[in-house]
Amino acid sequence: MSDAPVTDLSTEIARRRTFAIISHPDAGKTTLTERILRAGGAIQLAGNVRAKGERRRTRSDWMSIERDRGISVVSSVMTFEYGGCIFNLLDTPGHEDFSEDTYRTLTAVDSAVMVIDAAKGIEDRTRKLFEICRLRDIPIVTFINKMDREAQDPFALLDEIASSLALDTAPATWPVGRAAKFVGTYDILSKKLHTQEELAPTDPRMEQLAEELELAEGALPEFDRESFDAGHLTPVFFGSAMKEIGVTDLLDALVAFGPSPRSQVAETRTVKADEPGMTALVFKIQANMDPNHRDRIAFARICSGKLERGMRLRHTRTGKSFAVHTPQFFFARDRQLAEEAFAGDVVGIPNHGTLRIGDTLTENEDLKFTGVPHFAPEILRRVRLDDAMKAKKLKQALTQLAEEGVVQLFKPQDGAQPIVGVVGTLQLDVLQARLKAEYGVAIGFDNTPFSLARWVTGPREKIETFAQVNRSAMADDLDDDPVFLATSSFMMRRTQEQNPDISFHDIKQIG
Ligand code: G4P
Repeated sequence: MSDAPVTDLSTEIARRRTFAIISHPDAGKTTLTERILRAGGAIQLAGNVRAKGERRRTRSDWMSIERDRGISVVSSVMTFEYGGCIFNLLDTPGHEDFSEDTYRTLTAVDSAVMVIDAAKGIEDRTRKLFEICRLRDIPIVTFINKMDREAQDPFALLDEIASSLALDTAPATWPVGRAAKFVGTYDILSKKLHTQEELAPTDPRMEQLAEELELAEGALPEFDRESFDAGHLTPVFFGSAMKEIGVTDLLDALVAFGPSPRSQVAETRTVKADEPGMTALVFKIQANMDPNHRDRIAFARICSGKLERGMRLRHTRTGKSFAVHTPQFFFARDRQLAEEAFAGDVVGIPNHGTLRIGDTLTENEDLKFTGVPHFAPEILRRVRLDDAMKAKKLKQALTQLAEEGVVQLFKPQDGAQPIVGVVGTLQLDVLQARLKAEYGVAIGFDNTPFSLARWVTGPREKIETFAQVNRSAMADDLDDDPVFLATSSFMMRRTQEQNPDISFHDIKQIG
């Protein structure tokens, strides 16, 4: 991927930067992504990653859903080189109906850039995504966007981030000028001015800058690398993605203080990124990216060591091994064979359904990474198939799409039609559209009496008895793990009280 000669493992790994951008819709994630990719030379034309109202992503029909709605449904990865580092930018869906996909993607990053609209401050979805990052102590870099418009005062914004997210804020840059007169930034760490035009020292904007910097110095925390790495402090950058102000400040900072690939927790031990043995975690599956070749790509984050094309890997869930002949890197629009990939990189591995979300791949070690969860869905619907001749095809298609994480699948133990579970209703639209476009199966959805799904664990005989008594409310998930479907939280509580030997879970660790 790079023209640089292959150097030693830890040098290669240390220059990986794997991150995602989190934001509330409209804060400017798409625009910033575009500018970042452009700065990294990954795209020549502005507009390539634009989700709204244009020609991108005609790769397959179902994506017309996201096109029509102007939302980004798929999270994909974009690789580019900047400042001597290899960046892997993992795109996350903006819409909260796809939050499970976002969560899984965030398990594969080492840092996140939080984009905030300078006029609006912290919004709902920013807060939720931030909380997910906090659960995993993911270091956050903040980019306050749209400084070229009427914005809140920088001190007020820093204050709001600190108080509403309980996160220390250290300004890394300071805005020079405001709104229409916003011309650039002053880099507090390197003490350099980056403005789009020359400013005389007597320019009121320079005077304002000097005053504010003096104030900031006394009142605000300084950047502290250790607190940042631990996820307790965020460096804050001001800018305008649209006017391309502050974008290279952000990238330069990611080059300077990373973070580079972090250790990953496995069931038996913690795996360090620069260990020589290759390990990888599958965090996303995407099927039928190219409708002409029913391919299925497993996105795997390399957690340690180096992957080489042709390597034999152990698939630890099944114990089987297989050779990776065509691992791929993804760019803004293309894919390319990955001859070698290092910890931090994300590769796509084509397969026929053997790889699943949460799977661990190793050179030989029997290892299982933790941390890719399934959340209990909040909406349950029974699938209605109008053409009974297609029952078998539906079953196969539902299984494939559930493996991909489009929906969760519950097969009722009493043999009734399958139930699908989702976090947001847009997932149902995607399921319906993809079943039609990719498998030629038309379905509808019926309501079910159920509103909650809980994974059931406990002594085997207790579960069997429980399942017999509650047969019409029992289902098996994709891995054939038992799930109890409850009609209300009241009923769920009562069931739990009546069955103290059994545990009911709203999160399942997968893998
Ligand atoms: P999102 O992916 O987070 O949803 O945001 P997106 O980049 O699509 O930006 C949302 C809107 O904000 C867009 O305007 C975009 O042009 C605008 N925007 C993004 N960054 C900046 C900035 O730094 N300054 C200003 N002033 N505006 C910015 P739109 O009218 O919705 O779309 P479009 O017609 O511009 O494409």
